[in-house]
Amino acid sequence: MSSKFYITTALHYVNAEPHIGHAYETILGDVLCRYFRLFGHDVHFLTGVDEHGQKIVEAAAKSGCTPQQHCDILADRFREVWERLSIKPDVFFRTTNPQHKKFVQDILTKLNNQGDIYSANYSGWYCTPDERFWTDKDVVDGKCPTCGRPVEHLTEKNYFFRMSNHQKWLLEWIDSHPDFIKPESRKNEVLGFLKQPLGDLCISRPHSRLAWGIPLPFDTDYVTYVWFDALLNYLSATEIHKAEGFTPDLWPADLHLIGKDILTTHAVYWPTMLHAAGYEPPKTIFAHGWWLIDGGKMSKSVGNVIKPLDMVEKYGADAFRYVLMREMTPGQDATFSEEAFIKRYNTDLANDLGNLYSRLAKLWSSIRHETIPGAGTYQTGADFPSENLEKLKETVHQAILNFNPNLAIATLIGFVGELNELVQREKLWQDPASKRIYISSCLTALGEVARLLEPVMPIKMAKLRFLTHECRPESLFPRIEVKPKPTPPPAPPASGGEKNSSPSGGEEPSAAQSDEISIDEFARVDLRVGKVIKARRLENSDKLLVLKIEEGGGVRQIVAGIAKSYDPATLAGRSVVFVANLKPAKLRGEWSHGMILAASDGERHFIVAPEQSVESGSKVK
Ligand code: MSP
Repeated sequence: MSSKFYITTALHYVNAEPHIGHAYETILGDVLCRYFRLFGHDVHFLTGVDEHGQKIVEAAAKSGCTPQQHCDILADRFREVWERLSIKPDVFFRTTNPQHKKFVQDILTKLNNQGDIYSANYSGWYCTPDERFWTDKDVVDGKCPTCGRPVEHLTEKNYFFRMSNHQKWLLEWIDSHPDFIKPESRKNEVLGFLKQPLGDLCISRPHSRLAWGIPLPFDTDYVTYVWFDALLNYLSATEIHKAEGFTPDLWPADLHLIGKDILTTHAVYWPTMLHAAGYEPPKTIFAHGWWLIDGGKMSKSVGNVIKPLDMVEKYGADAFRYVLMREMTPGQDATFSEEAFIKRYNTDLANDLGNLYSRLAKLWSSIRHETIPGAGTYQTGADFPSENLEKLKETVHQAILNFNPNLAIATLIGFVGELNELVQREKLWQDPASKRIYISSCLTALGEVARLLEPVMPIKMAKLRFLTHECRPESLFPRIEVKPKPTPPPAPPASGGEKNSSPSGGEEPSAAQSDEISIDEFARVDLRVGKVIKARRLENSDKLLVLKIEEGGGVRQIVAGIAKSYDPATLAGRSVVFVANLKPAKLRGEWSHGMILAASDGERHFIVAPEQSVESGSKVK
């Protein structure tokens, strides 16, 4: 039976062209949609643009057009980029849509009539780019605490939403709906914020200062605060959908995907607005992490903004989608570099996936005319990858129910690795006709992998699915050759000995030191803190435990050889440190996505853990 699944991204500001952060969020939405559809849900996907407010007025003035003209141009640009990235929303929402404007005004009228809105004089520090007021204690050296730009002191009459009336309800809602804010670390952040009394929300801007917004229905000298307008889009879209005669009813939304920077607006302002207006909150708000460049924020002034279309032109949309999904665990930050991009592409797509297809296609073509009954059926058993395709599908399904395509992909690529090992182990190229059952079974399995990867790489995987029946030669993912960087000229001999000399007096490191690694090599190991939520013994093994570990952005399974030192019943709730980017491996039929660190005295193991409680997902350096 299909059930509706309504998913949204944030609405992106049209003050600039789409960048990698916008692209990641929208690709994540599209990938999840395609997976949920594959697993039988009736999916409705909304993305779009946030068009009102000061930022847009400034951007329009810079480009010499009216705000509306500017929005029309940028909205088209976003649409075009999403199309090039194979992103297919059901609705591309614009907040300048007249039906939306009317909906916002209707909600404001309702709240005003029921006494949820009042006017008052307000004095505070105003940050124009962020369009929000701050109090004396918020402001840092005369600057906005979030964007660091100068603030100005203003006193003016404004309208306020009685958000404070809904604090108690919100706390109860969060408590009784464990899936409402994800990941867990973000929920704790919101709960921390709600420890302080919640203020009321200023929801107006004087028309004299900002005209580009939705007029307040009860006082046209004011326009609506851009967040109050934009947050209502998710709901107004469903009312428009209903008014146009479509079913099913989409509300409450199943999943709002947002970035960690807009958590408070979504997990505090938004549900209280809905509650006041008589609507149920969405089922889940999921805050993803940020793409960083060289460990810092992307910024126009630094000139390190990554534009999605530059990547698509160089590497293709499918590869871009794949690498973004593969390199970021939803919920955590990740660092983008073109070097890491190419490395990931070459390892997973060129070497593992593309190469497996080429080998199998060649083998099958060499024997295809000799018909043997049973060819084409998947064989399981001791000699064959023990992974059964149903189980593979179930693992992917579970990862998707946890909104974690990253884990789904890692599992699938791990399985491709097993198929490659099988080709090697059984030496399928030696007398292939006698091994046709293996070859055809591997092709069937590869076809299934393609089906399960199609949500991530819609074009190439549809092709691969077809090719696993055709078996014609095709280089799906040609290897990207990177020109070696020119080696720097040798350093001049150290004068005076001090600066460049080794402890033994300026000689080259000896061969005995050659197993040293550089700091860059060490930095490639992604060590993270996690919390054990469940542990059990692995059947028929006296050494291995299967651990479910909460890692901030989801849950991963790790098989650990600590059964002789730990009773699984004592492990739930314990912190561990684990290697997060280890290639997944199967141990006695169970997938292990990483490795936990433990000290050993030869007999016993001692789990390595942070000295004090620290959030799951935190990096260990
Ligand atoms: N317009 C508001 C959202 C209103 S939703 C009713 C807004 N727009 S934004 O364009 O600034 O950001 C849109 C989304 O992109 C946010 O979820 C934000 O977190 C995300 N990203 C912006 N930069 C990002 C990265 N560098 N990395 C990942 N996502 C980030 O906020």
